[in-house]
Amino acid sequence: MKKVLRYLLYTLVAVVALVSLAAAFIAVRGVPTEKAQHIHLTVEPTPVRIARGEKLASLLCKSCHLDPNTGRFTGKRLEDVPQFGTIYARNITQHPEFGIGKWTDGELAYLLRTGIKPDGTHLPLMPKLKESSDEDVYSIIAFLRSEHPWVQADNTRQPKTEYSFLTKFLTNAGILMKPVPYPTQPIPEPDTTNKAAWGRYMALQLDCWVCHSKDFLKLDPDTPEKSLGYFGGGNVLQTPEGKEILSRNLTMDNETGIGKWTEDDFIKAVRFGQAPDGAPGLRDPMPKFSNLSDAEARAILAYLRSIPKIRNRVERKF
Ligand code: HEC
Ligand code: HEC
Repeated sequence: MKKVLRYLLYTLVAVVALVSLAAAFIAVRGVPTEKAQHIHLTVEPTPVRIARGEKLASLLCKSCHLDPNTGRFTGKRLEDVPQFGTIYARNITQHPEFGIGKWTDGELAYLLRTGIKPDGTHLPLMPKLKESSDEDVYSIIAFLRSEHPWVQADNTRQPKTEYSFLTKFLTNAGILMKPVPYPTQPIPEPDTTNKAAWGRYMALQLDCWVCHSKDFLKLDPDTPEKSLGYFGGGNVLQTPEGKEILSRNLTMDNETGIGKWTEDDFIKAVRFGQAPDGAPGLRDPMPKFSNLSDAEARAILAYLRSIPKIRNRVERKF
């Protein structure tokens, strides 16, 4: 009997030692480095692209990279994701040393698609434009090179990002926030005559599905539709003051979702944060997508009307 106990004890000690070793390995290794591919690309900065790029940058980059103090894309600390570490979005102005002045168009396209920098560093918190059209990616690049005040050279330097154990663990385990392969085929513009398909394109590009599914840790980046509680809400987020706030159910369930909303209700909520029937307005971190056109908001609604309903009541806590 004593022998059995002793063996059990040895096994337990061995398991604990192995787990601590693995944890120490992950802590020291950090976010794994990848191999960056070299992309040959020259983006023609046409006025149409620059204008489209400005809109996309205000929808997709501004929230993290625009510092209200400098009025430029000089980066800032991202306070609302403490679980992922002490994170600083970088200076992406045209400064040759502190910004991205020396990056080639190919290097920018590669990072925007895959999350990987030219030296192989993987930036797990950068959104990856996996399904965006080539034209959208080129437009963002044209904008970054433009004369717009947000991107003019600035010598602000951000402190180094320190990732949390959770981020290191997730990236080592390849569970979430993994780099995305660079597309091997050209990605065409979405078909804007098919409203639901166009809406899906934007609902994915604008990360609506990321906040409005059940749990960040149960998202499926390969097939978003397979994410737990896809668009059924209930994901736990934080307001800028650090209070817990839940995302809402955007499926068409009549009682717990937005099945009874009109197009007008939806446009007002998404673009301006206004709730129907004079209910209190929508709060941060729900963005105000004021740059979306009514037609774009309507297309997102058409897409939401095409996906399965989920019954999930999300209470407004405060
Ligand atoms: C959710 C916040 C977030 C959004 C949105 C975002 N970024 Fe970033 N970005 C980051 C973070 C965080 C880093 C750097 C992380 C680090 O230091 O490890 C970064 C780094 C970068 C870098 C690398 C700069 C360098 O010198 O290493 C570029 C280029 C960049 N972002 C461009 C963009 C563009 C263009 C967009 C819009 C299409 C965008 N980012 C949207 C958070 C964001
Ligand atoms: C950063 C996370 C985040 C993103 C991204 C996001 N939302 Fe939200 N959304 C929220 C939160 C949180 C609420 C709840 C706000 C509140 O309770 O005041 C909300 C509320 C809403 C509501 C109100 C629903 C209701 O029942 O009152 C709508 C509509 C909505 N979001 C649509 C969208 C659409 C469309 C997109 C993409 C274009 C989007 N959201 C992207 C976090 C997000």
